[in-house]
Amino acid sequence: MAERPYIVGNWKMFGTRAMLSEARAIDRAAQRYMKVEVAVAPPYTLIHAVHREAEQIGVGAQDCHPGAEGPHTGDINAAMVADAGAKFVIVGHSERRQDHGETNELINAKIDSAIEAGLRVILCCGESLETRDAGDAEAFVLGQIKSALGSFEDPAERLTIAYEPIWAIGTGRTATSADIEAMHKAIRGLLDETYGAEASADVRILYGGSVKPENAKEILSLPEVGGALVGGASLSAESFLGIVVAAS
Ligand code: G3H
Repeated sequence: MAERPYIVGNWKMFGTRAMLSEARAIDRAAQRYMKVEVAVAPPYTLIHAVHREAEQIGVGAQDCHPGAEGPHTGDINAAMVADAGAKFVIVGHSERRQDHGETNELINAKIDSAIEAGLRVILCCGESLETRDAGDAEAFVLGQIKSALGSFEDPAERLTIAYEPIWAIGTGRTATSADIEAMHKAIRGLLDETYGAEASADVRILYGGSVKPENAKEILSLPEVGGALVGGASLSAESFLGIVVAAS
């Protein structure tokens, strides 16, 4: 486990203002687990409100448009989410890739704009079941990371990678410990090669896909697993905090 594990709740398209009480409960409890970095990414509509509630936890966005302000109806850019109180942005989530046809090139532009706006970035990657069954998972995931990072140069304290096998997201299925360990080692190898071991060591590699209080300890104890990106189990303070406790 990383020196300071990073547990991030991705609320996806869930949550109205009624969720603020969960955010408050997470924030208050997180103050007892200072060795764990805890954050949530609510929908855009709640970023500012959660930011106002949060004394301890980090608040981020689930996506951003890569451009400057302009005539793009319905879009929100990195400067806007930063202005609302976000400190990081998730990019390249498989649901964005699937639902909105996002390419690695677009994700690369989002990374640049997020860094420019002073945000940290959580870059998601992960293979489909077909790709895994074909034996191509590692090459596919490393290819996604390489293309999405492009010429991104300085990962220090600004980059987190989240490995999320698509077939494990929201399905109750988690990858085996051996699969998680092998993929995280391969990602670490790529980061070492690209940035050198010292800069690479600053980049935490999170696992995501049906992480729950019951399986979190085992997953978080694997080498190179620096935390978790949690979907469903982040929607209640009780289950999310169960994962934070497992990380502590
Ligand atoms: O961003 C979070 C992941 O997609 C995992 O979601 O914990 O509901 O499987 P899940």
